[in-house]
Amino acid sequence: MPAVTATAPGKSILFGEHAVVYGRPAIAVPVSQVKAEVVVAPPASPRGGKIHLSAPQIALSADLEDLPADDPLAAAVAGTLRELSVPAPPPMDIRISSTIPIAGGLGSGAAVSVALIRALSAYLEVPLADEAVSAIAFEVEKIHHGTPSGIDNTVITYRKPVFYIRGQPIEAVRLKSGFTLIIGDTGIASPTSLAVGDVRAGWSRDPAFFEARFDEIGRLTREALRQMEAGRVERLGPLMDQNHSLLQEIGVSSPELDRLCLAARVAGSWGAKLSGAGRGGNMIAITPAGGAQAVASALENAGAARVLITRVGAAQEAPRDP
Ligand code: MEV
Repeated sequence: MPAVTATAPGKSILFGEHAVVYGRPAIAVPVSQVKAEVVVAPPASPRGGKIHLSAPQIALSADLEDLPADDPLAAAVAGTLRELSVPAPPPMDIRISSTIPIAGGLGSGAAVSVALIRALSAYLEVPLADEAVSAIAFEVEKIHHGTPSGIDNTVITYRKPVFYIRGQPIEAVRLKSGFTLIIGDTGIASPTSLAVGDVRAGWSRDPAFFEARFDEIGRLTREALRQMEAGRVERLGPLMDQNHSLLQEIGVSSPELDRLCLAARVAGSWGAKLSGAGRGGNMIAITPAGGAQAVASALENAGAARVLITRVGAAQEAPRDP
């Protein structure tokens, strides 16, 4: 069997993170400047019929049978083999790499799962439909962070902007015009499970406080969808600012995220917010196209570890590292 390579993009949540875990809508877009890549190939050396996984970035080199069942990579392989009904798979080498920062809010876990599922099914010559890919990746997301909404695996599998409500069929966003998004990385790794767990603990203590904020985030998200579909992209800025304030109130922002959001606004963005689970990871700023470089420089000066300029809904621009 010839070697097969599959990739999957990162993602950014524009509106609705955390509230989406509690049944409110969220909007997310794929980010193709960063990606996970998985190569599945015949074994380079005789391995006694084993499946070998290597991921140098996390210092992993192990046979599948030696990984615990709740290892996310092992679970993605096992879930795919189950779906394909392959009880006795051939020996193979699975090599995993990614340019998506781990625990940075850009969907690194889901992207690795999706690339792995696709590469493995293509190698075994039984391509899977998007729905099946997303469903297997969702099961792996549960290992990553317990109660995922499913938005990460969905937007990464389908590679298009989505309006997402947990448990409902996905809705593509009919963007009337594209827009420029600047993504600023605090450089602080923040596992999704911790932020989601803390929100859950807060919600259990004071459900009324959290539910009211989730309702408001849901309202902003629906308003954002209307503005996107009407092509009034500059109006997304104030909605992002309001969404960020609500995320501050539920305790998932951080001084670093607040500083980057403020720097982006001062430098000319229409609005800015944290994106993903928060605490660390990334923020996003929606910015007039001509102002992208100024905002990127302001983010670098305010301490961003990395800045990406991306176009949503139109041709992707080149990645930009400080
Ligand atoms: C993580 O990318 C987004 C969260 O809303 C969690 C989830 O939706 O599963 C924080």
